[in-house]
Formats: sequence, structure tokens, C-alpha cells
Amino acid sequence: MSACDSAPGKAILVGEHAVVYGLPAIAIPLAGVRARASSRAADQPLTIFAEDLPRPPLTLQAVQADPKDPLALMAWLTMRRLGVERVQGEIRISSEIPIASGLGSGAAVSAALGRAIARMLSADISDDDLSRLVFEVEKLHHGTPSGIDNTVVVHEKPLYFVKDRPPAFVDIASPLRFVLADSGIAALTRDAVADVRALRQSQPAATARIFAAIGEIVNEARGCIERGDRLRLGELMTANHRLLGALSVSSAALDRLVAAALKAGALGAKLSGGGRGGVIVALSDEDAVDRLCQALYEAGAKRVMQTVAGPGSHHDDAIA
Ligand code: PMV
Repeated sequence: MSACDSAPGKAILVGEHAVVYGLPAIAIPLAGVRARASSRAADQPLTIFAEDLPRPPLTLQAVQADPKDPLALMAWLTMRRLGVERVQGEIRISSEIPIASGLGSGAAVSAALGRAIARMLSADISDDDLSRLVFEVEKLHHGTPSGIDNTVVVHEKPLYFVKDRPPAFVDIASPLRFVLADSGIAALTRDAVADVRALRQSQPAATARIFAAIGEIVNEARGCIERGDRLRLGELMTANHRLLGALSVSSAALDRLVAAALKAGALGAKLSGGGRGGVIVALSDEDAVDRLCQALYEAGAKRVMQTVAGPGSHHDDAIA
């Protein structure tokens, strides 16, 4: 008998870059874009297959302490948390989340794996505990992770985040339908963050004004999510995109995708994450989704994904 555990990807809805300087940001779970771990008992040491990831299967004879491989580390941390030294069986990891695109792929894979191991041991692991373990693995990927990815993918709730403050979940009044488009352009968040830092040094007053404006957008966006004001939320997203452009982290390709989304009827659209490449996120009405997906492909998107954030959206899986 096999079972399946999963965790969603995540996207920053508003506030990226300014969040590095203490302003707030909101991140959302991508319920429709998930990593999954199917597990089954078998008379063999735990073997983890990850066909979508560029890596060979991993067999855990007896897990060595503190491994450097992210899957091995997650398995080891989960087993240690649950007080066992061995697990028998097989886990197959699959993921719809593009890797290295700021969509939380590493955290989602870790969370799904941790849940699968707990299930194989017929043990419970709380979301808070799981989030802490995923955070430990995130350190392998990112050095000094912010804590956004593990919190959002494990709790699967929108998060209002301010650096060095406890994260706060945001309640969604009514479902929000998002379409994400991957530009297919690889860009390092680290480089974009360094360029914003240089801009802040060369133009401190202008940059401070932009950060403050982004902070106001994030706070107003939080209220819109809680009240269900989708029209205003869309406007705020688009305004945030323009401010990110002023911080130099957009690109012609991302501007083209945002313009195409707005022309096709999106309520708002912006780049999400580090910028330069990666993805854009658009807020859509239900009946505009198909038109939006087509327009985004025509504007150069390599992949378009859709998701709904809101109560009851967990099983609304769909990939356009
Ligand atoms: O690409 P992501 O989702 O990891 O987001 C990066 C967000 C930045 O604000 C640009 C950087 C950061 O560390 O917060």
C-alpha cells in the first residue's frame, strides 16, 4: 500500500527587496503547484527516489549524523526528531515547482519528505516542528534563509513577514486566483539584492522613498486580502511592480509578461522574488484565467501555472 504527502510552493506576493531592509512582505502558498512524496513500506533500508531532481536515488542504510545532502539531512532530522534510527521502505519524490525560481521548491520537497517519513513511522509531527526542521535544511541551500519559505510551505497559509519579528499569518476572506508565468530566465537573487544595495548607497533618499512606498503597499495589501478586496489588491500588485522596476530589478522580459497579463484582463501583475528573471504573478478573475494563460505564453512565458489561495484550495491542483 502506498500513500502520498505533499507541500506547496510559495511566491512573494508583495514586498520583496524592501523586506531585506526591515519593511514587511507577504508570501502566499501555491496550493496548485506542489512537491509530493509517495511512500510505501518495503523490506529494505529507506530509499528515496527523486526523479525530477538532477540526482541519483539515495539509500539510507543507517543515516550518518548531520549529512550535507538536503534529502539525507531532512530524513536524518525527521528521524532524530521522532526518536528512531532506521526506517524501512521507499519514498518517491516528484515536484511541479520549478527549481531555483524563488518558488520554495527546496522547502516544499523537504516538507513533503518529512511528512512521508513521519507517516511511515505512524508518528505525528506538528507543523511547527516540521517547519523548524525544513529551516535547518534551507540553511544548506541558502546560507542564511529568511524563514519565509519553510513557514509558508509547511503551514500553507499566507504570511505577513518582517525580518527578525515573529511571522503572522494572514486570513483570506475570499479565494484569490493567481496565474504565475516563468520567464525561463535564470537570475541570481543574490546579484539583484547586491544591485539594490549599491543603489541604496548611491541614491539613499530616492531608495528610501521607494522602500517606504513598498511598505505602505504591503500593509494595504494585507487589509485587502483580509477584506476580500481583489480590485485594490490587483492595483497594489501592479504599483509594486513599478517600484521594483525603479529599484532596477525588473527586466524587459518581465515587463513584457506583466503588460501581457494586464492587457489580457489581470486585476494586477508583478514580478515575484529576486527579479531580473524568474517568475511574474498575476491576480485573475475566474473567467479571465484561460485568456491570461494564453497571453502569457504568447508573451514568451516558458511555463504558466495557476493556483487558488484561500479556504479549501488545497486540492485544486492544476497546471496550465
Ligand atoms: O526569490 P525568493 O522567493 O527567495 O525571494 C527573494 C526575496 C528578496 O527580498 C529579493 C531577497 C530576500 O532575501 O528577502
